[in-house]
Amino acid sequence: MSFDLVLFGGTGDLAWRKLMPALFQAFRHGTLPEGGRIIAVARDELSHEQYRSLIQSRFEGVDLAKRPTPDEFERFGALLHYLRMDLSQTQDYARLAAMLHERNAESVVMYVATAPSLFTNVCEQIAAVGLNGPHTRVVLEKPLGHDLRSNQAINDTLRRVLKEEQVFRIDHYLGKPSVQNLLAMRFGNALFEPLWRRETIANIQITIAEELGVETRGAFYDQTGALRDMVQNHALQLLCAIGMEPPINASANAIRDEKLKVLQSLKPWSTETIGQHVIRGQYVAGKTHGASVPGYLQEKGVAPGSTTETFVALRTEISNWRWAGVPFYIRTGKRLAGRDAHIVVNFRPVPHPIFRTSAGAANRLVINLQPKDGLELHLMAQGAAQQQVEPALSQVSLNLDFDQRFGTERVGAYERLLLDVIAGRLNLFVRSDEQEEAWRWVEPILQHWRNDALGPRPYTAGSWGPSAASAMIARDGYCWSEEV
Ligand code: BG6
Repeated sequence: MSFDLVLFGGTGDLAWRKLMPALFQAFRHGTLPEGGRIIAVARDELSHEQYRSLIQSRFEGVDLAKRPTPDEFERFGALLHYLRMDLSQTQDYARLAAMLHERNAESVVMYVATAPSLFTNVCEQIAAVGLNGPHTRVVLEKPLGHDLRSNQAINDTLRRVLKEEQVFRIDHYLGKPSVQNLLAMRFGNALFEPLWRRETIANIQITIAEELGVETRGAFYDQTGALRDMVQNHALQLLCAIGMEPPINASANAIRDEKLKVLQSLKPWSTETIGQHVIRGQYVAGKTHGASVPGYLQEKGVAPGSTTETFVALRTEISNWRWAGVPFYIRTGKRLAGRDAHIVVNFRPVPHPIFRTSAGAANRLVINLQPKDGLELHLMAQGAAQQQVEPALSQVSLNLDFDQRFGTERVGAYERLLLDVIAGRLNLFVRSDEQEEAWRWVEPILQHWRNDALGPRPYTAGSWGPSAASAMIARDGYCWSEEV
């Protein structure tokens, strides 16, 4: 299939850090359709050759295994083109249109990897020069707005100039092989479905822990915070994947319809439940791998006395027949004790114990998302032969390591998502109504925090967050997975 991929923000951070390496991997794997052009667009005055050299020089800093050989770069570089544009000028879009009309590719992808404030303007300008035809797909990165209203305003503009199926809203977590495996586990196996309900499951915990701080993004992050940066999108998408009903088929809309229902069923907040069930934190100086690291307020770009949260832990419920009363806990933060994203499904203990087990021992399914990718099923077994009337059981686990099993066959999140956009597959992208529903649900928390003088609770960098997060879950009689 012939394609033209236009990369707005072609000299920017995202293009460089994520998109070019992913496009190169697809090229190396032979999955990037032949006969494509990658047209980088930016304000700098560069020739095609200069842009290619720039990209080649940046690849020199990449892991050897992911770096192109000179011969590979010569072939990959031939796909790269450069167009200087001022994104506020309609005549510059006309030049882009002329360049695209030369070929009339079967798939035209507009990847808007610019500052979010330019998203709607770029889409309107694309439409103004007639580039919004049925072969055009527009890719937008988060953040799409900073609250429900601004998100709706963006979506309204998009709807005026594009059809919903032309808009590819990226949540890169959906492109991770481990997250796709979560759906494969649930809907490709008959084993789990009968157990996947309130009668058997006591609680579910979703953790996305990061070891890094805000790095160079202090100014952006300070306006954003963990709730908007991670919970509204990545964590809620994971919650949807774990909690949704089986879709009627694997089409994008069938999957999105089911995810939407989960978001619509999330228990509404009250002032009281936000106070009790939502914990926000902010890291103070501490240690990561033995080295001292600064606190959030000392990071570059962060406003003095900022109350932006770098950690959120919360408890919610999906109010439907399958899940009523089952707590779902979400926890995410920066500068935590490790980089670890996983979901723990805690099953209920047996109804009538005839063996001795340690208090509260029950089956547990751990879905490791990153850096490990696989499943751990914790079961009870009897070790050495015992003479007691009521023998004691020990925990054993079945461990599936997907990296080991599928290692070289796996593709990275951006590689997968870019190939999907080119092919027009929407399954792993977020529909506007899902996104709006997610904003609708987090908005009362944002409002509550605005009026809450207490601010975030401090936690030491390199810890698992404020102790209040453990106290919150302990009130239900449970604990986080690392405390088991
Ligand atoms: C991004 C957030 O969406 O996801 C970042 O803006 C965060 O703050 C990143 O670090 C985490 O992604 P990953 O793939 O490293 O878990």
